[in-house]
Amino acid sequence: MTAPLPRVITTVAEMREAIAAERAAGRTVALTPTLGALHDGHISHVIRAAELADVRVVSIFVNPTQFTQAEDLEKYPRTLDADVARLAEHGVDLVFAPSVDEMYPTGPTGVTVHAGEVGNTFEGKSRVGHFDGVLTVVAKLLGIVTPDIVTFGQKDAQQLFLVKRMVTDLNFATRVETIETVREPDGLAMSSRNRFLAPGERRAALALSAALEAAASASDRGIDSALAAAQGALAGTPLVELDYFAVVHPDTFRPVDDDYRGRAIAIVAARVGTTRLIDNESLRIG
Ligand code: PAF
Repeated sequence: MTAPLPRVITTVAEMREAIAAERAAGRTVALTPTLGALHDGHISHVIRAAELADVRVVSIFVNPTQFTQAEDLEKYPRTLDADVARLAEHGVDLVFAPSVDEMYPTGPTGVTVHAGEVGNTFEGKSRVGHFDGVLTVVAKLLGIVTPDIVTFGQKDAQQLFLVKRMVTDLNFATRVETIETVREPDGLAMSSRNRFLAPGERRAALALSAALEAAASASDRGIDSALAAAQGALAGTPLVELDYFAVVHPDTFRPVDDDYRGRAIAIVAARVGTTRLIDNESLRIG
């Protein structure tokens, strides 16, 4: 027997009505925002969401305001029918798949959310304005769906940090649930971009998780040892063009000093062939 398809909603008005009906019936709501091209990482969000709320909403929207290269936006895989079928297998109730005009009826340059200083570092340094675009669309989705819970992946650590900060700073009545990174058996973090890796690049991409593991293993000897171990793991990988490897404080997302001891996050970004990949790992320094 095939699972019933989720209801696919494309307008803000209809989404609000659907949520109002769920609320009237006393049901709680969880939202998983996505760009589509769903993989097992996204599925782990909806599985966790089922434990936290009565109704699960997945938004599928390739948000133009967070793409800094027109080419990346065009190339982003759009697989709505397959995504909806996958969500049906997991009993998701509602899919919100609006058009760009529906989300930005007066154009994308109106009132936006500014991600602040942290938004200009790391991912935000090489993709200027990216996090303003992310936070603006997330704020809109939270305004439309008004979920009790919103799920975000640890994989995009800087995005997770900034979304949590926005929810706190702008007083959204939503709890952010962190979902652990799902990895391929060989350690590569799942990402919609992995499909762009040629076989040689796919092998080379393992340098990212290897560098994080090396840093984690050396982290009891301090930051310098962790960074040196990561550099060792990344050396001699010709297809991998490193953008950054850094160790940041989980409460500020700023690099920690050499003498820092305590919880930290090692973050890495690199271009593998033409595909930009990111990953991260929690550490305990010292
Ligand atoms: O992480 C993503 O997939 C996107 O940045 C998000 C949160 C769906 C906003 O468009």
